[in-house]
Amino acid sequence: MKSSVVVGLQWGDEGKGKVVDQLAQRYDAIVRFNGGGNAGHTVVVSNEKKVFHVLPSAALWKKKLYIGAGVVVDPESLAQELSQNPVNVMVDYRCGLITPLEKWLDKRLEELRGAGAIGTTGRGIGPAYADRMLRVLPRVLDVVYGNGHDLSIMRMLIGDGWDVTNEWLDMSRRVLSPIAGDVPESLSSIYEKGGSILFEGAQGALLDITYGTYPYVTSSNTVASYVGVGAGFPVSKIDEVIGVAKLYVTRVGAGPFPTEIAGGLSEKMRSKGGEYGSTTGRPRRVGWLDLVALKYAVSLNEPGKLRLVLTKADVLTGLGDLKAAVAYNVDGKESSNFIDAMLGKSVKPVYESFDPIPEVDWGSVMKGGWDVAPRQLRKFVDFVQDYLKVEVAEVSVGPQRGMNVELR
Ligand code: GTP
Ligand code: IMP
Ligand code: MG
Repeated sequence: MKSSVVVGLQWGDEGKGKVVDQLAQRYDAIVRFNGGGNAGHTVVVSNEKKVFHVLPSAALWKKKLYIGAGVVVDPESLAQELSQNPVNVMVDYRCGLITPLEKWLDKRLEELRGAGAIGTTGRGIGPAYADRMLRVLPRVLDVVYGNGHDLSIMRMLIGDGWDVTNEWLDMSRRVLSPIAGDVPESLSSIYEKGGSILFEGAQGALLDITYGTYPYVTSSNTVASYVGVGAGFPVSKIDEVIGVAKLYVTRVGAGPFPTEIAGGLSEKMRSKGGEYGSTTGRPRRVGWLDLVALKYAVSLNEPGKLRLVLTKADVLTGLGDLKAAVAYNVDGKESSNFIDAMLGKSVKPVYESFDPIPEVDWGSVMKGGWDVAPRQLRKFVDFVQDYLKVEVAEVSVGPQRGMNVELR
């Protein structure tokens, strides 16, 4: 009996999809608990690339998949994903539904923000969570059981420009009726029978609506403890948290990014790492590993139960000297608290430098184990481990399933 949570520790796109796909074979059920179709989780098997948005990234295994009530679901894009991936999935009765109104509002709000736009994925995520708080968002059960859902108040509030038609309702009912269910009850039953459960987080700690770089964040909680609300599963029963972080940092969309790299080197890293949004195709901003930010993210994700998977080591080879931020210089004073990056002060990273990692045949490292990995990489990873005081379980060295090296 085991329950584990995979979470991102940066601004998303750390490679959680690959990690979940690899772990999934050892679990009975895989569960999404936050976010929605804004996520783009990539899995690469035999050179074939699959991107999952609202389905858990374990869709390639014949496992039971769940979408918890903390997720907001767009029935139209779920239908599309299901048509490409015929899986066994249950969607919680209480999931909020993204209607054409929320997608319209997402675009409209971004237009109105102008130069201050957040750079959302345009999937209606923020308005959906907001409308749920306003108690106007339809849920799965409202559509499936025709509880009725009166959107006229929203029309009075914001006028026309969007429409929730009978066609949309019929389509949603068709998609959701066969797969709607009580996710907490099913998870509890699996757990009581000794089954194992893997929870898949979307986005990353620094995009958390409460603890992230607000307002440049997503609209759900992205930290491990949100499993309690988003999947209705007791947090006390979580055995371990697997925190995923890149050995450098990326971010899509606007917002603070203390270690961002400008110019040629960032382009080189973007192209080598394929750093383009899995959902929107936008180029990701690229920067050096920020250990101040990572320490903050660790502190928010059950540090006593947390082990790290560090990804994209292969992108760092052949780049010259590497850097990692170990503190910030904030208006002339040194700080090691990420909150300082959120206070609107001028923040300059204080870097530690590391020797360049030479090009290497990763196949032989995967065969020979961590001890035959380049010593420069081992030193870099040891430094991260010592700084964070958290164990690194694995280093990922390529996008393909299986391209990783365990540390012990
Ligand atoms: P979100 O939930 O959207 O935040 O995404 P994610 O964490 O699942 O990551 P996503 O799949 O969007 O982006 C990670 C990208 O890196 C994908 O293209 C992966 O195929 C790729 N990837 C994962 N691990 C590695 C690695 O170790 N090396 C390389 N080169 N690519 C990797
Ligand atoms: P939203 O979640 O679409 O509202 O977007 C809000 C912010 O979160 C934007 O900066 C997005 O680029 C970012 N974001 C949302 N989902 C993801 C993701 O899965 N990976 C990386 N960034 C994301
Ligand atoms: Mg992604």
